[in-house]
Amino acid sequence: MVRPTHAEIDLSAIAANVALACRLAGPETRVMAVVKADAYGHGAVPVARVALGAGATWLGVAIPEEAVPLREAGIACGILVLGPIAPDQADLVAAHDLDQCVSDQAQAEALDRAARARGRVLALHLKVDTGMGRVGLRPREVRRVAEKIWALPSVRLAGLMTHFADAEADEPGFAREQLVRFAEAARELAAAGIPAPLRHAANSAALLFLPEARLDLVRPGIMLYGYHPRGPRGGPESPLRPALRLRTAISQIQDVAQGESVSYGRTFVAPRDLRVATLPVGYADGCGRLLSNRGRVLIRGQRVPIVGRVCMDMTMVDVSGFPDVRVGDEAVLIGRQGADEITADEVAELQGTISYEVLCRIGPRVPRVYLPPPPAASATAS
Ligand SMILES: Cc1ncc(COP(=O)(O)O)c(C=O)c1O
Repeated sequence: MVRPTHAEIDLSAIAANVALACRLAGPETRVMAVVKADAYGHGAVPVARVALGAGATWLGVAIPEEAVPLREAGIACGILVLGPIAPDQADLVAAHDLDQCVSDQAQAEALDRAARARGRVLALHLKVDTGMGRVGLRPREVRRVAEKIWALPSVRLAGLMTHFADAEADEPGFAREQLVRFAEAARELAAAGIPAPLRHAANSAALLFLPEARLDLVRPGIMLYGYHPRGPRGGPESPLRPALRLRTAISQIQDVAQGESVSYGRTFVAPRDLRVATLPVGYADGCGRLLSNRGRVLIRGQRVPIVGRVCMDMTMVDVSGFPDVRVGDEAVLIGRQGADEITADEVAELQGTISYEVLCRIGPRVPRVYLPPPPAASATAS
């Protein structure tokens, strides 16, 4: 029996979003489904299988540890670790035959040693920092480091990659500048006589808005889960289909008299006699504390306000307008109920954040229920 608080994941929505990404990418460009952070909270293995079935041919994770359950599930496609690793993690990369993004010579040497110890050759993707200001080599350093990597026996240069800082901007001028710098880095490699590896740069925003950034491979994340990288500015006409619905069921209903308070800190005092329902969901499940006295949930297809502080495991809502609401009735925190929908963008705005964070903060103790059931292992174990 699954607990009443759970996330329903619509895998057909993910398949449709992946198919859209593949259509946008076009026949010459490969699609890497970014499934880091447990597929943005949706569950990495089922999402990966569906994404590979819908046209993606690569997977992207942030850390090698995230690739282990994918390999254990029999997924054999290329998996790129997008984030930096410490030398101690190099053996995990080698053990699971992962592609690794590298930003300096020391990382490449650690991977070369780990690969040699396992009798393998590992594929590296050289990361160029063209303006993100996070990780990567400056374009002028690319040639020197690429030459060093080229000389290492147990690694090969499989990719040249960069990442955009603001491709979702209404005017993506800076992203275009980043592309120019990236082209410069690619020329440096060519000048050194190093064969052109896979070039990749585009996240969801660049895939959607910057066709010239599609190159050899694209790396969409958020759009696969149905959210627009421009947030609510993506507009109601967005062709993307949100895949996650976070729901619970009322566990208690009580009368709260005028002047009585609700929850920790007594930040809510009933202005009149109220009926208050308690939901067994809290900030440990991903219902952020910043939603205290601000958020809304859907009950019987209507929005009702959160009253008082969101607790670690429980949240209270005012159901005074609904005399027929009962214990066990469904409450929806993210997603559709009846004719109304609360999006992760809406929940994010109330907390001063973005849909990405709202989705990947849904905690590990929230069961994920898949509709329809995830495909069997054999469907994608190639
Ligand atoms: C290197 C890299 N590529 C691609 C992505 C996917 O980005 P998005 O979810 O905006 O499509 C990310 C996510 O942050 C990333 O770090």
